[in-house]
Formats: sequence, structure tokens, C-alpha cells
Amino acid sequence: RAVVPFHGEHQAGIVTPSQRAAQFVALDVAAPGRDGLEATLRTLTERARTLAAATPAPSAGPGAPPSDDGILGAEASGGADSLTITLSVGVSLFDDRFGLADRRPARLRVMDTFPDDNLDRAICDGDLLVQVCADERDTVLHAVRELLRATRGDLVVRWRQDGFLPPARPGGAPRNLLGFKDGTANPPTAQADQMDAIVWTHAGPTPKVDDQAARAFGLTLPDDLPDAVEPAWVEGGSYHVVRTTRMYVEFWDRVTLDEQEQMIGRRRDSGAPLTGAHEDDVPDFASDPTGDAIKLDAHIRLAGPRTPGAEAMRMLRRPFSYDNGTDPAGTLDVGLVFVCFVQDLDRQFVAVQRRLTGEPLVDYISPVGGGYFFALPGVRDKDDWYASALF
Ligand code: HEM
Repeated sequence: RAVVPFHGEHQAGIVTPSQRAAQFVALDVAAPGRDGLEATLRTLTERARTLAAATPAPSAGPGAPPSDDGILGAEASGGADSLTITLSVGVSLFDDRFGLADRRPARLRVMDTFPDDNLDRAICDGDLLVQVCADERDTVLHAVRELLRATRGDLVVRWRQDGFLPPARPGGAPRNLLGFKDGTANPPTAQADQMDAIVWTHAGPTPKVDDQAARAFGLTLPDDLPDAVEPAWVEGGSYHVVRTTRMYVEFWDRVTLDEQEQMIGRRRDSGAPLTGAHEDDVPDFASDPTGDAIKLDAHIRLAGPRTPGAEAMRMLRRPFSYDNGTDPAGTLDVGLVFVCFVQDLDRQFVAVQRRLTGEPLVDYISPVGGGYFFALPGVRDKDDWYASALF
């Protein structure tokens, strides 16, 4: 089972191919003051480093609790299991508790409420977000337990959300719980120049957007998108958006195939755009300007118009399905943990999310939780620690 390198310029778990299991754990910091926060982040780093390498913690002997549960996780699945632990910070970390106010990533804020949202603030935001992913669910839970054990008293769980994906199959993106392939039009993670332009945040003034391309995409500049200057430490990190989005699958399952495909703009079976035959065919909006094949309000036309220059609004999506059981009415409480990584929260995620307001799909989905976070730059080597650049 694969070991995903923990050290590097960027954190693992962002451009890493999606594993099958995930947990998102939002935490509030109880440790007092800046020193307390630093010590907690150093402890988290040490524990994450050994977990990612599948190195068992040394035994403390029979007179103490076992230092690692040794049954679940890496041992059971025979290795590191592609475990990645990605640490992100929320805007509340920059309030007056830790003296970090002048370090806030320029776009970071409490998650916006969009018109079709139904947010429960108890499952939104947080000082920190830990995204733990691996090929097996027990490995994920094991890592979460160990991280929480190492920081007990210093970090308090605010909310926690499980996620999963179907087994990887050759040919194409995995399906979400609406039954459609999800992830087809993602930018290529192996192309470093594209990741540099789409995913990684850079210090200094936020890159300008071509005015015409922005207008063609429905963004009005400059009022909509004020310039911002990112602090030096953010270099190599990424805005990390999580939107726990419930799906009303009982309703969806009564919708005709035609209507479902029109709402998305792709075929359910192959994932091909309605203007094409294969999943990887590029949607042809130019020769379908009135929406005969792909409706003007189809999800993919609103989320990814292929107009020249609109690349600046592309994003890297890394979603997982979720199953939270049933609600009090006996309805399935299932959906999508929508996750994306972007260089600039407003230019990319918010611009696209605004365009999706009122799309036909909103009758079947409802964002209920999540948050805006900033994924820290990578931990460089064995002497480095999460957020060393921030302090
Ligand atoms: C594409 C589903 C929410 C942005 C797609 C596709 C599906 C899909 C089936 C087509 C396949 C693909 O290219 O991946 C969903 C569902 C959602 C959801 C079920 C909610 C439960 C969102 C949100 C955003 C978003 C919140 C961003 C604000 C995109 C983008 C594309 C896409 C950028 C690619 C469009 C393209 O370039 O062709 N989505 N999506 N989606 N979605 Fe979503």
C-alpha cells in the first residue's frame, strides 16, 4: 500500500489522486495564547508525519495506555494506505486570541451564505480543518483518533464529516450519488504550470483577471472583485472550500433521465457532454449558442463556460459522497461533500457559485455546512512543522 510523501513544497491531499475514504474534522483551538497554538501545531505535525509514513509510535509499556491502538488503521490494511493529512486554517484563527490578525490570507472569511443555502452554523467553519484521506476507511478513522488523542485538551472538535468514493474503475471519473460521473472536467493535476495558475496561492497582489473574459463569464469588475494583497507566508498554500451539500435523492430518483441529463448537461451513462459522444469530449457551447443540446442553465454550462480567458476561474474539485443515515422524517440524509482548492477564493469558487444560483439542480441539492479554509504550505522536511511560515 502506497506511502504518499508527507514533506514537500505543497501539502499532500490536494493534487494527490482522490483516495476512497475521507474525513473532514473542523477543530477549535483551546490551547491558550500563541505559544499554546504553536505547541499544538508542532504536535499535530509530528503525529501526522509518523502516521503518513505508517511508522508505529513507540510502545509506552503495559502500565500505560497503548501508544497506538495497533489494531485499526495502517496495521490492519498493511501499510500507509495512501494516507494524506491536510491541515487548513479558518478565519477565526486570526482573531485576537493568537496575535495573528495581520497574517490573515487576504480572501479568508466566514463562509458566505448563498441564496440556495440552508446552512446550519453548528456544522460550519472552525479554527482549523483537518482533511484525512486514505484508501480504507479504518485507516482514516485510525489517523483521526490518533491526531485527536495527541492534541486532547488543546483542540476541540467542532464538526466532523465522513466521505467516500466508489472503487476506482478504468475509464473516467467516479459517480456521485446523483448517479453522474463527477470530476470529468477537472484540470490536469500532473501539469505543474496549470496547478500553479489554478491551485497554489502566491504572495503579493492577487492576479488580475482579463476584464472581457470576466464579463463573458458573468463577473462584473472591479466592484465584484476588489484587488487584494496576499501575505508572504501563503506561498504554496491554497484556499480550501468545503460545502457539505445534501442531496434529495428520493426526489431525484423520480426525475426522467432526459431531464436529469439536461440539468447536468452530460449523459448519465457515459459522462459525455450532450454535444459529444465520449466522456473526455469538450462541451461545444460555441456551436450551440441557444442551448438546443446543452441548456443555457445546465450545470456544466454555468460552472465551466469554455469562453476564452475563463480559465482564470477554473478550480480543482476533490469531492466525496457522504451518508449520514436518515433524518427524523425517514428520508435519506446523503449528499456530496463538495471540496475545491483554488488560488483565489473569490475569482474562482465564489464567481462560479454565484453563477450557479437558481440552476435547476438546486431543487435537488442543499448546502448545509462546511467552510472556507486556507490549506497551509507544505511541511518541507523533518525539522519543519505546519504553519512554521505563519509564525
Ligand atoms: C461539473 C455535479 C456542485 C462546479 C459537474 C459535473 C457534475 C457535477 C455531474 C459534470 C462532470 C464533471 O465535469 O465533473 C455536481 C453536484 C453538485 C455540484 C451533484 C452538488 C451537490 C458544484 C459546485 C461547484 C461546481 C458547488 C462550484 C461552485 C463544477 C465545475 C464543473 C462541474 C467547475 C466542471 C464544468 C466544466 O468545466 O465542464 N458537477 N456539482 N459544482 N461542477 Fe459541479
